[in-house]
Amino acid sequence: MTETHNVIIDTDPGQDDAIAILLALASPEINVLGITAVAGNVPLGLTQNNIRKVCELAGRTNTKVFVGSDRPMKRSLITAEYVHGETGLNGAPLPEPTMPVQDQHAVDFIIETIQRLPEKSVTLCTLGPLTNLGNVLEKAPELAPRIKEVVMMGGGLFEGGNVTPAAEFNIFVDPDAAQLVFKAGIPLVVMPLDVTHKALTTKARTEAIRSLGTQVGKVSADWLNFFERFDEDKYGTDGGPLHDPNVIAYLLNPGLYSGRHINVEIETQCELTMGMTVADYWGVTNRAKNAIWVTDVDADGLFDLLLERLAYFR
Ligand code: BDR
Ligand code: CA
Repeated sequence: MTETHNVIIDTDPGQDDAIAILLALASPEINVLGITAVAGNVPLGLTQNNIRKVCELAGRTNTKVFVGSDRPMKRSLITAEYVHGETGLNGAPLPEPTMPVQDQHAVDFIIETIQRLPEKSVTLCTLGPLTNLGNVLEKAPELAPRIKEVVMMGGGLFEGGNVTPAAEFNIFVDPDAAQLVFKAGIPLVVMPLDVTHKALTTKARTEAIRSLGTQVGKVSADWLNFFERFDEDKYGTDGGPLHDPNVIAYLLNPGLYSGRHINVEIETQCELTMGMTVADYWGVTNRAKNAIWVTDVDADGLFDLLLERLAYFR
């Protein structure tokens, strides 16, 4: 029997976040308890709006959406409209959403859910800066041992950074929150640039998604075509890295991935390397292992899975 995961998705859509949400909503193995918005790719007002647009596109207006932190724990917000467009979801215009957001703050929802459900039964999937989870751990540090696992997109070692030579966007935006998460003792699975740069949205793959012939297929392909242009220019590749869906795909089929259990620390002091994930891949320290650092993916397997699941939306 396949395992069912009780999941909270914490996200800052973002076209790749949107595809990750669709993948989760299409998958019966994933029970989405709620989707929490954080400021990141674009400000919070837009990320919560975008989550609801995606849920409505998926026909899942009963999904509980919570509004979370509007800025990093200790710093000013940095956004990425230069990648995602000014709405965060440029590439495919969607109607303004009408489904509601919940009254409860996202941080309180996460706390209450982890308290209420049995110990180690909730997985947190983080697709943006770690601010909401950082605030959870600051407010209720005793909850850390109750969390089953955090699967996150963030960081980079072999690929370096994507916003500075040393730092990846999600960690760079809120390194203080990331530090709290990496020090909390929660089982962590990290999808860094090292793996997401191996999952390219090639023309053949986006056209296969478009060929589904559905609205979800068309919108997804249009989003990816917009999103990939920035990295195609930068790296000279056919397609750009598909970052965030790896988090959901890992839960659906961990066999697509390989990585190593290592120590990872977050740089929060040095200006030059701020937000760097200092990943002890070669075990040159005695620091305690705190994360599975994923480096490889069966990219064809990932896109096959994505195609199969997106086909669920008629
Ligand atoms: C990460 O930053 C965002 O631009 C993407 O949505 C992804 O979560 C990649 O660095
Ligand atoms: Ca994201």
